[in-house]
Formats: sequence, C-alpha cells, structure tokens
Amino acid sequence: MSVSTIAEKAGESVAAAPHALPAWVYDHAELHRLELERVLLPTWQIVCHVNSIPRAGDYETLDLGPESVVVVRGADSGVRAFHNVCRHRGARLLDGAGRCPGTITCPYHGWTYRSDGALIGVPTKERFPGLDRAEHGLREVRVEIAFGFVFVAIAGDPPPVAQSWAAFREELAPYEIERMMPLGPITTELWDVDWKLAMDNYLESYHVPIGHPGLNRMFTPDYEDQASVPTIARGVSWLREQESPRWSERLYQRHVARVVTNLPEPYRRCWRFFSALPNLGIDIFPEQMDFFQVIPRGPGRCAIRSGVFALPDARPEMRALRYLGSRINTQVNDEDRRLCGRVQRGLASSSYRPGPLSGLESCMLEFHDRLRERIPELRLPHPPRQFAGAH
Ligand code: FES
Ligand SMILES: [Fe+2]
Repeated sequence: MSVSTIAEKAGESVAAAPHALPAWVYDHAELHRLELERVLLPTWQIVCHVNSIPRAGDYETLDLGPESVVVVRGADSGVRAFHNVCRHRGARLLDGAGRCPGTITCPYHGWTYRSDGALIGVPTKERFPGLDRAEHGLREVRVEIAFGFVFVAIAGDPPPVAQSWAAFREELAPYEIERMMPLGPITTELWDVDWKLAMDNYLESYHVPIGHPGLNRMFTPDYEDQASVPTIARGVSWLREQESPRWSERLYQRHVARVVTNLPEPYRRCWRFFSALPNLGIDIFPEQMDFFQVIPRGPGRCAIRSGVFALPDARPEMRALRYLGSRINTQVNDEDRRLCGRVQRGLASSSYRPGPLSGLESCMLEFHDRLRERIPELRLPHPPRQFAGAH
C-alpha cells in the first residue's frame, strides 16, 4: 500500500516539507527495526583505526542492532572482518576490544578459529561425523580501509567509502589521518535520545550560538553546514582573533597555531566537522581528531560510540593543547546531550506539532529526505495502522 493510500485510509494528511519529522518517529519499536534493516545495516560503519589493531590477533568489535562484527589483524598483517558469531550454535565470540594471539576460541564449547576465519579446532571432533571444517569458517563481512579507518558494510552493497569521500581527499591530506594513533580506547556513552534526534543535532549549526556558548566565544559566527557532496555535510569554524574570557578557551586560542607545526597555516586555525549520513561524525582539530557514531539502542535511546586519534607527538605543549581541546569538546558534548534530551522529552508532549525548518537546517532536511525515501511511512503524522501494537 502506498503512503498516500495509507494516509487517506487513516483520514490523515501527509506532513508537508520542510518541516521536522513527526514526533512518533523518534520513539517507535517497529520503525526502529526498519531503520536498522533499511538504513543503518546497509551502510559503511567505522569499527576502528588500523592503528587500533597493530599486532597480529588484535581485534575490535562493533555491535549494531542485532548484528555484531569483529575486525581482526591477521598473522599475515591483513585486516579482516567477520560476523562475531560462532558457527556451532551461535555464541558471541568476542567482546569490546582486545587481543587473541594465535586463535579465536568460542567461550561456549571451544570451537577454535584462525585469525583468517578458518575453523581449525573442534573439541571431540569424532562426535561430529562428517563435519567439514572448511564449510564452517567465520562468515566474512565486507571491509574497506579509508583514510586509516576500518569500515564494514554488514548488509547491502553501498558504494566504496573512498568514492563517497573523494571530494574531500585533498582537504584531508595535510592531517595525515592514516598515520594517527588512538589516544585511548573507543568509548560508548548512552543517551536517552533517539539516534535520529542525535543526528539531527549534529547536522545543523543553527543551535551553536545559543546552545554552545564556548564555541561561540572561540569561533567566528560565519559557520554554515555545506551539503556540497551527497550524504556528507561539512562545516568549518575559524578561530576568532579576540580571546575568550575563559582560561581554557583563551589558552587554546593563543597557543594552537604555534604548537601545531605540521599543518599549513590556515589549517592551524580552524576546526572541521563532517557529518556523513546516516550516523557518522568526524571532527578534525589541528591537534587531534575524533569520530563518533550514533548507534541506536532501542526506540528513543542511543549510544554515542567514539574514539580520539592524533599523530605521534610527545611534546608537553602538545599534550597540554590536546587536554585543552578535549576539555572544550567534553563541554560541547554535554551541551549536545542535554539539548537533545530536552527535545526528546518535548516530543513526548501531546501538544507538539513539527515546526518549520530554516535554511540553516538543510543538511538535516537531506537526512530526513533520505530516511523518507527508504521508509515512506515516515511521512505520516501518526504511526500507520500496520505498525499498531508494535510500539
Ligand atoms: S557455540 Fe561456539 S563452540 Fe558451541
Ligand atoms: Fe551541538
């Protein structure tokens, strides 16, 4: 049934763009399942940086909805990705990040796999008459390494990452992201916010002057998110000449261009923000960079999975600069989490109707348009009848 038919049957009108999505879509179990299936699983997802898993047997996992993937460095130094699921009775093999030198052993009955996925050990193998080990290796997941990051596509056939990001290759080159090292483990932070709402927030800078007073003190107000490349929005913020009255912001402004010697001059004075649909953000600062993924964790809840990376540089002044940068960004992250939480609570009110979007929210609108393409029911002001009972 088409969406308009569904809407007519329900006696409802289709919400006109450009307005925000209707409230129900930010907290709905059946829709959440469809989003995973149609939007998130068939897109490239970062698992880690190649330098997060430098030695043979190093691994990192990524959980997304019902799926779990493990990326492993092989004995031949190759990076491979597998479904993190035992071929015997399906036990989850590995958690988080770590090292399995030699083999990966299932914690349930001890089936053992090589780092290239081959099944090499089965306890009491004689009790599995006719078992063909070659048929029971770990299932591979498509993997691509782009600017040093290991991406996986769990389902579908998305175009190569390098192709989607090609327009930014030159702009990114001076940062040498592929040479960077992790500054710590990948972390996850739970937000009581639907994943789409978190992405909406990352896709517009309209909220920055009011929502992030620190950023407003440090950067000129001419930032705007540019959607010049399909599915990727990019914003650049330039440091103000005028110093912030806050000590951490002021010290950062004063010293960043002097401490960061590896970048050309204009690069030392700007922060670059990339938001790649559907759920990836990449922030590049002169002294370090981070990625974050908005991982759905059920309707109305998500986890922000992120990692911070930088070029090797042990100078105390660089350590101090990274501390200042992280301190400022921790504050920004807290502000975003609180602001998104306020929206999530507001959307639950019976009084809410989607409001109009400004030209400054065009990247968010592109996100919504792409979601509507994949899941036409998102156009409806209320959940369609066939979703009833799933909530
Ligand atoms: S489920 Fe892995 S060995 Fe049995
Ligand atoms: Fe923000």
